[in-house]
Formats: sequence, structure tokens, C-alpha cells
Amino acid sequence: MPLSGQRIVLIGGSSGIGLATAKEAAARGASVVIAGRSVERLESASREIGVRAETHSLDATQETAVEAFFASVGPHDHMAVLVPTVPDAEVRKSVRGFADTPQATMEIVMRHKFWCQVYCARHARRHLRDGGSIVFITGQAHRKSLPNYPLVAAADAAVEALARELAREYAPLRVNVVAPGLIETPLIRDLPRGHREALEALVGPQPVPRMGTVQEIAEAILWIMGNGFATGTVLEVDGGYKLT
Ligand SMILES: NC(=O)c1ccc[n+]([C@@H]2O[C@H](COP(=O)([O-])OP(=O)(O)OC[C@H]3O[C@@H](n4cnc5c(N)ncnc54)[C@H](OP(=O)(O)O)[C@@H]3O)[C@@H](O)[C@H]2O)c1
Repeated sequence: MPLSGQRIVLIGGSSGIGLATAKEAAARGASVVIAGRSVERLESASREIGVRAETHSLDATQETAVEAFFASVGPHDHMAVLVPTVPDAEVRKSVRGFADTPQATMEIVMRHKFWCQVYCARHARRHLRDGGSIVFITGQAHRKSLPNYPLVAAADAAVEALARELAREYAPLRVNVVAPGLIETPLIRDLPRGHREALEALVGPQPVPRMGTVQEIAEAILWIMGNGFATGTVLEVDGGYKLT
């Protein structure tokens, strides 16, 4: 199914993978709605995307705001949620092993990675057109264990389980997951030194020994939106990370 002429909503579309997806979708003739918290980031992203972009300021951790957002956006064809697990650099420093991670940080992880996707799936549903789809984004933490990531692993596993259930309950809408490996985005670039270097060391042994690009993940997201036979699927695009 070509995406030309379709309307695609990207929560977290003003940076990184979401922005790359918005640009690629617009280049293929779709109109895009991007949402995020910072108005400045949205405006800058909108200039990069061009005339096919509509912007909305939204904190997707707030369910009432998510409901109002989808009511104001109205009918659309596809929706993806690209909110990071821990968007705040300061809070990211407190993500450690299970015993050492403060309860408040654990709740932030679940709110951003799990509840944002729940709220968006719940409130987008009645505005999604026939033939449309929802795409959740997870990662690889629950497929290959990493120190300091137990809550991220739990959140990603929960999102994938939810996607399988919704693929049945929401049919004929399709519900899928894209699960990237390590991708070079502002999220990774802004990590504290030791943390970033530890992640970089992980990609060396991969069959594809580098971080992925935002474009590689954007193409996966748009492929799964456009493939009318894909539902309940987890599309892993990770350079073979879990094989190492
Ligand atoms: N980069 C990787 O290696 C990697 C690996 C696996 C999975 N992922 C997943 O891929 C997705 C995109 O990550 P990325 O690296 O592209 O991140 P990014 O460059 O930091 O972009 C994140 C986007 O989410 C928005 N956002 C943050 N908090 C939000 C909130 N509460 N409500 C609404 N929007 C919010 C940001 O805008 P504002 O800050 O202005 O709100 C921005 O547009 C995330 O789900 C992440 O977990 C990334």
C-alpha cells in the first residue's frame, strides 16, 4: 500500500528516528503530523520536513492531553509512538541496576515507554481510518540482557505483548512493533561519556559492526505501515546485536 496521500501521526516526530520518519514519509507524498513537548524543536523539525508537516505540542505522558490531541488531529491513516524511555538527561544518570535505581526513575521509565504507547493506542483508535495501522517502538534490551536495563527490558517486553493482543482486538486495524538496535540519534549522542562509550563497545562484535542510522529505522517503520499483511509483527532492525 503506497503511503502517498495518507496522513501519518508521529508522537516524538521532532527528533531522531521520528524526524527521519516524518521526512521520508513527506518525501513519499504523505502528510505528517508531528508531536512533542518542545515548540522550538517542533518548529525546527517542521522547517526540515517542509509543507507537508503539521505540528502539535504534546506531553504524551498525560492521558487527558493525549485524548485531546487525537480529537484535534482527527482522521488519520497511521500512528507511531517514538517517545524515548528516559527523555531527560539528568534522570538518565539514575538508570542503574534494579536494586540501585530509585523508584521515581522506574516510574518514569514505565510512564514513557509503556504508558505513552498505551494512551496513544487507546485514544488514536477511533480516529484511525480503515486500512490503517499503529506502530510501537521497542528495542533489544529484553532479548539480550544488559546491565542497568532491567526496567527498560520489562517495559519493551510489555509493549510487544500489548501489540500482539491489540493486533487481534483492533483488527482490521493493524498493530506492529519496530525494535531497533543501537541507533545514532541525539538520545545516544547526549548520553554521559562513560554510558555512551559502553554502548558503542556493544556494536563492535555485531555482524553489522556499527550503530544504525535513523534512515534505516525510518524505512522499517514506513514499510510496516504500508504492508497490509503485516500485523502482530515485531520487526527487528538491529545489525544482528542479539546474535553476539
Ligand atoms: N536511539 C536508539 O539507539 C534507540 C534504540 C532502541 C529504541 N529506540 C527508541 O526509538 C524511539 C525514538 O528514539 P530517538 O533516539 O529517535 O529519540 P530522540 O532523538 O530523543 O527523539 C525523541 C522524540 O520524542 C519526543 N518526546 C520526548 N518526550 C516526550 C513526551 N513526554 N511526549 C511527547 N513527545 C516526547 C521528543 O521531543 P521533546 O523532547 O520536545 O518532547 C523527540 O521528538 C524511542 O522510543 C526510543 O526508545 C531508540
